[in-house]
Amino acid sequence: MSKSILVVYYSQSGQLEQIVNNFTLPFVNSDIDVEYCKIKPVNDFPFPWTSEQFFDAMPESVAGIPTELNEPIFKRETYDLIVFAYQPWYLSPSIPANSVLQNQEFKNVLINTPVVTLIGSRNMWLMAQEQIKKYLKDAVAILVGNIALHDRNSNLISAITVQYWMFTGKKDNWLGIFPKPGISDEDILSAKKYGEIVLEHFKNNNLHNLQSELIKNKALQVKSNILFIESRGYMMFKIWARTVLKKRNRKLWIHLFKCYLIFVLFILSPLILLFYILFIKPFLTNKIKKQKEYYLNVN
Ligand SMILES: Cc1cc2nc3c(=O)[nH]c(=O)nc-3n(C[C@H](O)[C@H](O)[C@H](O)COP(=O)(O)O)c2cc1C
Repeated sequence: MSKSILVVYYSQSGQLEQIVNNFTLPFVNSDIDVEYCKIKPVNDFPFPWTSEQFFDAMPESVAGIPTELNEPIFKRETYDLIVFAYQPWYLSPSIPANSVLQNQEFKNVLINTPVVTLIGSRNMWLMAQEQIKKYLKDAVAILVGNIALHDRNSNLISAITVQYWMFTGKKDNWLGIFPKPGISDEDILSAKKYGEIVLEHFKNNNLHNLQSELIKNKALQVKSNILFIESRGYMMFKIWARTVLKKRNRKLWIHLFKCYLIFVLFILSPLILLFYILFIKPFLTNKIKKQKEYYLNVN
């Protein structure tokens, strides 16, 4: 019987779906049986989003509260490899991603199976991946590789353009001034190269060396400034999520969260980051190096 891989993903705009299709091309062109499973929430999330809906997705994303799914159907009981493609929402796995990870059918196929994660993010995926590691560990799956594609524009520019994209559905140059939002076409195409690397290691039963090869080929990058903002942002999001979930007047609290996020994103974090770069980072070279190594790896 030929080897099999299962590819599980969710995508709103089609960006992650394009990445998945490019990534799996080498598998499809080989003798491997590739099965795709697109996650389908019973009440799917809107795209484009309204501002209210967009911010309202925060508490459940951060707290990992699942939404109801149309039951995923897997043709086999076991697979030789699973590719789990997801997008971060509020520094956490998106709600469709957390939902399938808590689905018993999916947990059954994950047991003792090597998993490669494939991320399509703006630029902040480190904290989400930590949560994915926990879900996979609980399901007794074996994380063997991680590929994280991101928007290469600066944090502030990508924060502006992603809003334009999410609220209009248009992935183009806003006002003819801003760069295109999201992951560049070139990077989306490059997913095929990473698929080839995974395929080679998969065929040679050498998945334990996969992540070092992916790191060498820049399949993921960890930037210390982003790590600094993300780890602090995640702690704050946890507090906000817990608070909003407890409150009766959810609309009001979501509005307050929206004001907080805009203030932090565009005013507070650039100032804190400047302080960090000037006065903290130079004294933490070794610690930062170790942290980067940790987040690049799959353990
Ligand atoms: C509600 C929401 C929150 C998001 N939060 C993050 C985030 O914390 N970090 C990040 O890098 N990208 C974030 N993004 C961008 C997504 O990870 C993703 O790249 C984008 O939505 C395109 O994915 P798609 O293929 O599902 O359309 C967010 C998107 C949405 C809709």
